Amino acid sequence: MFHDLSPAMLERMRVLEARDAEDRTDGTPHADRLRQIPPDTGKFLAILAASTPEGDWVEVGSGAGYSAMWLSLACKAKGRGLTTYELSEKKAALARETLRLAGIESQVELVQGDALEELEKRRGVAFAFLDAERSILAPCYELLLTRMVPGGIICADNVISHKHQIEDFLAMIPQDSRVDSVIVPIGSGVLVCRLPG
Ligand SMILES: C[S@@+](CC[C@H](N)C(=O)[O-])C[C@H]1O[C@@H](n2cnc3c(N)ncnc32)[C@H](O)[C@@H]1O
Repeated sequence: MFHDLSPAMLERMRVLEARDAEDRTDGTPHADRLRQIPPDTGKFLAILAASTPEGDWVEVGSGAGYSAMWLSLACKAKGRGLTTYELSEKKAALARETLRLAGIESQVELVQGDALEELEKRRGVAFAFLDAERSILAPCYELLLTRMVPGGIICADNVISHKHQIEDFLAMIPQDSRVDSVIVPIGSGVLVCRLPG
């Protein structure tokens, strides 16, 4: 998956990584910052997605499409597709540009809208990556649990960096007998939940 990244994708990754790094130091308002996952998290998610059973792949919070590029590598390797949801029009436009420039429009579908509403329409999800605002983490998780296939995987980012904002959710997860879960200290901390099956 990681050995044949196209020059176009590498260039788009470089551009977005530089912009994300600038955002973190130049006072860019929170809503405009890209807040991307680091490359190692992207690789980790791609490996997880590639190991899921048959079913759909979804991402909540596209940003500028950086994480979708990593997941697209698993799409390519496995002949699968990803749907990524983004609320902000501005970010959705950037993500569309990323899909076009990186040449992954056939693997990744961008849907602009509120992921909570959009996820209602889904069934048969095998992989989900949650990377939007902390306030919708628990509702997205609950909604997805009823829409996952056996053996499906739900991941959420920032569970170490922002653990103080999701204390109740994080306290509940280890007790939730519907999933097996672990927090992986990679990047900002990724919660991995797997449904039995
Ligand atoms: C941390 S950024 C995503 C970064 C991206 N996953 C990456 O690593 O490249 C979070 C994004 O979630 C979006 N977002 C917030 N609430 C949302 C919602 N209800 N539905 C869809 N997207 C949402 C924000 O606009 C923002 O672009």
